[in-house]
Amino acid sequence: MNDRTEERFQEISHRISASDDLEISTYLQVAEARKALAEQEQELPTATKAPAARESVVIFDFGSQYSQLIARRVREWHVYCELLPPDAPYERVAALQPRGFILSGGPASVYDANAPKVPAYVLESGLPVLGICYGMQLLADQLAGSVVPATKREYGHATAYINDTSSPIFSGLPFSLSVWMSHGDKVSELPPGFEVLAYTDNSAITAMGRGNIVGLQFHPEVAHTPEGKNIIRNFLYEMCGCEGSWLAGLFVVDSLSQIREQVGNGKVICALSGGVDSTVTATLVHKAIGDQLTCIFVNNGLLRREEAERNINTFRRNLQMNLVYVDATDRFLGRLAGVVDPELKRRIIGEEFIRVFEAEARKIGDIDFLAQGTLYPDVIESATPETKAAAKIKTHHNVGGLPPNLKFSLIEPLRYLFKDEVRAVGLELGLPDEMINRQPFPGPGLAIRVIGEVTRERLETLRAADWVVMNEIKKAGLYRELWQSFAILTPLRSVGVMGDGRTYANVVAIRAVTSDDAMTAEWARLPYDLLARISNRIVNEVPGVNRVVYDISSKPPSTIEWE
Ligand code: XMP
Repeated sequence: MNDRTEERFQEISHRISASDDLEISTYLQVAEARKALAEQEQELPTATKAPAARESVVIFDFGSQYSQLIARRVREWHVYCELLPPDAPYERVAALQPRGFILSGGPASVYDANAPKVPAYVLESGLPVLGICYGMQLLADQLAGSVVPATKREYGHATAYINDTSSPIFSGLPFSLSVWMSHGDKVSELPPGFEVLAYTDNSAITAMGRGNIVGLQFHPEVAHTPEGKNIIRNFLYEMCGCEGSWLAGLFVVDSLSQIREQVGNGKVICALSGGVDSTVTATLVHKAIGDQLTCIFVNNGLLRREEAERNINTFRRNLQMNLVYVDATDRFLGRLAGVVDPELKRRIIGEEFIRVFEAEARKIGDIDFLAQGTLYPDVIESATPETKAAAKIKTHHNVGGLPPNLKFSLIEPLRYLFKDEVRAVGLELGLPDEMINRQPFPGPGLAIRVIGEVTRERLETLRAADWVVMNEIKKAGLYRELWQSFAILTPLRSVGVMGDGRTYANVVAIRAVTSDDAMTAEWARLPYDLLARISNRIVNEVPGVNRVVYDISSKPPSTIEWE
C-alpha cells in the first residue's frame, strides 16, 4: 500500500463536513480511495477538469483555520481562486494563470526549522501578493525584514489606524478599522522599501506594503473584521485588476460543454438523495446529456415524512430524469434491528447503501461514469499534518467500498465550488428556491435521531414530531435563518397527565441551531411562543409523546446531531 494513497484514504475516511449529500458523496470518495488501493495505486480517473476561469487568484494555504474562508471571500467577489499547498507543483499554479497570490495565515513560526515558505517564483513574478498574518511574517522574513515573538500575544478585536487611506489595499476605507487579530509573532523590522500602512496600539506594523506586495497582520477574511471583505475586494479589483467574471451563468455554460465532451456517448449514473449537492449535480448532468444519465434514488426507510414521494415527483415528473427508485426500507430496518450504537448504525447504513446501489447499477448495464456531488471543501489539499489528523468525532461517512470490478470514471461538476456557489448554480438551472435552500439532512437520516434502537414505530413517532417542527418553523419564517431545525426521539419516558389519566410516554427533544459551516453552531434563541406552539402540537398530535424539551447546547462541546 502506497503511503499517499493510504493517507488519502484515511483523510477522506475521517473528514468531517456538513454536506446534506455527504453520505453519498463521501463514501463514494472512500470507495474511490479503496478502489485505488485495490488497483495497486493506479489513480481512479477523475474526468472533471478545473473550470476555465478568465481571471483567477491562487491562495497558498499555510494551515490557517481560516484558509477556506479566504477562498470563499474571494469567490464572493466573483473571482475564481484555488487554495493550494505552498509546495504545489509550479505547473499546477501556472496553469491557472493567476492575477495575484494570497498567502494565508498558519500555525508555524517563520523561524521554525520546517516552516513552510513562499515559493520563490511568487516573489519573482511581479504579480500582486497579499500576505495575511503568517503570510505577512513570511513576506517580512523572506524579503529581509525581521520577525520576533510578540511580548503580548494579540488575540481578538483591535483597532487598526491606517497611515495612508489612498493606498490601494485600503482604498475607500475609513481611517480607523475594527480588525480581528490572532498571532504570536510580529514583524519588528520592515523589509527594504516597505512602508507601514497601518498600526495598532499594540503593534507598530499592522500592515505593510511595497508596490503591489502587501502584508496584513490581522485577518480580513473573518466576519469580525467588518471592512475585511472590502479589503479583499481592493486586493482583487484595485491591485490584481480583476473584474469579477466568475459567475454562475458562465459556469453552467462551460460545465455543460465540458460534461458533453467528457461523456461522449457514454452512460452515466448518479445517486440522488434529494439534497442540494446531488440535485444540482444531476440537473447539470441531465441538462448536458439528457437520457444518457440514469439516477438511482434509494429509500432507506429513514427519510422524513413524504420525502420519498417528493423526490420522485421532482426528479421524474418535473425534471423528467430517468429515475430508478428503490424502496429498500425492509433491508435497512432489518439490519438495524437491535442496533443502538451510533457508529454501528452509520456503518450498517453505508454498507447497505453500497449493496443496494451496486445491485441497481448492475441492472442498468454498462456504465462509464459515476456523477457525484463532491464539493471543493472535500477536495482541498490540507497544508498541515494537524488538519489531516483531525480528531474523529463522528464518522460522517459510511465506509463501504464499491467492489473493484465496478469500473467507471467520476464526473464531479461541482468539484471546484463552495456550497453557496452550488446554490447559485442551482438557481441558474431553474431549480426552485425551496429545493436549493434546504437545510442539511444527514445521510443516515432519522436513524441517528431515534436515540437507541430504530424501529418502524419509533420512526413513525419521530416523523410525526419532525413534521410539526418543520411546519411551525416554516410558518414562522425561520427555516432559512436556521442551519438545521428538527426533532429527536429520546430513549426516555416520562410521566404525564392527559385528561384524567396518567401517561408514561416518550420525550421528544427539539434542536434548532444557527451555523455557517456546521463546524461550530449556536443553539437558536427561538421565540417562546413558537416553542410553545411546537410543544403543544406535538403532545396533542403525536401519539405516544407526553413531553417536549428544547436543547440549549451549542457546538462545541455538543454536536448538532444527538448521535
Ligand atoms: P454534528 O452532529 O457532527 O453534525 O455536529 C454536523 C453536520 O453534519 C451532519 N451529519 C451527518 N451528515 N452523515 C451525513 O451525511 C452523517 O453520518 C452525519 N452526522 C452528522 C449534521 O446533520 C450536521 O449538518
